[in-house]
Parts: sequence; C-alpha cells; structure tokens
Amino acid sequence: MKYNIAIDGPAGAGKSTIAKKLAADLGYIYVDTGAMYRAMAYYFIQNKIAADNEKAVAEACADVDITIQYKDGEQQVLLNGENVNGVIRNEEVGNMASATSVYPVVRTKLVDLQRQLAQKENVIMDGRDIGTVVLPDANVKIYLTAGSRVRAERRYKELQAKGVHCDLDEIEKDIIDRDYRDMHRETSPLKQADDAVCLDSSNLDIDGVVSEMKKIIQSKAQV
Ligand code: DC
Repeated sequence: MKYNIAIDGPAGAGKSTIAKKLAADLGYIYVDTGAMYRAMAYYFIQNKIAADNEKAVAEACADVDITIQYKDGEQQVLLNGENVNGVIRNEEVGNMASATSVYPVVRTKLVDLQRQLAQKENVIMDGRDIGTVVLPDANVKIYLTAGSRVRAERRYKELQAKGVHCDLDEIEKDIIDRDYRDMHRETSPLKQADDAVCLDSSNLDIDGVVSEMKKIIQSKAQV
C-alpha cells in the first residue's frame, strides 16, 4: 500500500516549490501534474491547434505521448520522447494548458498516467483535481491557497529577477482569469476536497508553509 499526499490549489500558491521540498525531506517522489498539461499545451501551440477547437485538440491527443522520468531527483516530462521541461514554464503555455485542460479527452489521458505513478511509488502529487478526482483515497489532502495579489507579487518578483519586464496589475488579472477558468470548468474543476485541510500561504514564507504542511501530515498519520 503506497502512501500518497495530494496538494491542490490555484496557480501561483507555491504548490510546486513546497511539494518539491517536502518530497525531498520525506523521501517521496514529487509528481507535478501541471507540467503534464503544459507539455500537451506546448504540443498544441507548436502544431497551431486552437484552444477552442475541441475536435482538433481531440485528434491531436491521439498523436501525443507523455511520459515522466526522473533524473537526479528532478521530474522530466517527455513529449513524444523529448524532454520539454525547458520550454513549458511560461505564461503562453500556462494559459494554453488552462484552456485545453477543460476537455475530458485531455484529462483522461493524463489522469491515467498520474494514477499509475501513484500506484508504483509513495508520491506527493500537486495539481487542481488530485484530492477530488485523481487520488480520492490519498492519505493526506491539502488545499494550498493565497490571495491573488500575493500570488501576483510573488510572480512579479520571479520575473523581475529574471530581467523580464512586467506589470503587476496585468499579472494579477491573468491569475484571476486562470483561477476562474480552472474553478468553473465542467470536468474536474479546481475545488477543495471535503476531506482536505486548507492552508493559506499569504502570510507565510516557504519554510513556514513546509513546516505547517509537515504538521498536517503528522497529524493525519496519527489518526
Ligand atoms: O499548475 P500549473 O500552473 O503548472 O498548471 C497549468 C494548468 O494546467 C492549470 O491552469 C490547469 C491545468 N491543470 C489541471 O487542469 N489539472 C491539474 N491537475 C494540473 C494542472
């Protein structure tokens, strides 16, 4: 029996940074499901498939093979055999992932892969529907959130540090739009599972969130 931890929440709440750290500390495998939706989205962009053309997206899905491998503890997403980690972390791909992840055909393909990973290993998996749909029997479920302004400020700082010119209000608007789409789609919308613990990271730094999460995990292990 594998021990699985599900972390869900909106874009920019810090899920992947925190989950990666927790996984390293606890010796679990970290599974970033957003990266899988991003890899699919990257394929759609490369092949000039419009996000609103469900038929074309469905046809393209048949040509897409997504696999995961781990190198030096780092998750690599392979799109038709090619590591796409370096090209999927941008707003264009993130928005395309949000727009195309509404389609059941996209989700079914990736949910199968995610469940297979969780059956083989102890995982900390993050995404939008992990506690509600992918791993409804996860041992621990955490819903990690933060106010949209705080999330925008974090993203703004990240981009500034990379020397990318950006506007804080625009970033926040983008985040609010993405939240809305992810929370209001018909299939597997982002929502807190009934048995998830909600953690608001607005006033916590990374170490603070990791420490709160460890407390939640320990409290569940003792139940
Ligand atoms: O977590 P992220 O920003 O990398 O995710 C990109 C998009 O992928 C997100 O806006 C919605 C979609 N996604 C999803 O629908 N379900 C998941 N489990 C993970 C991501």
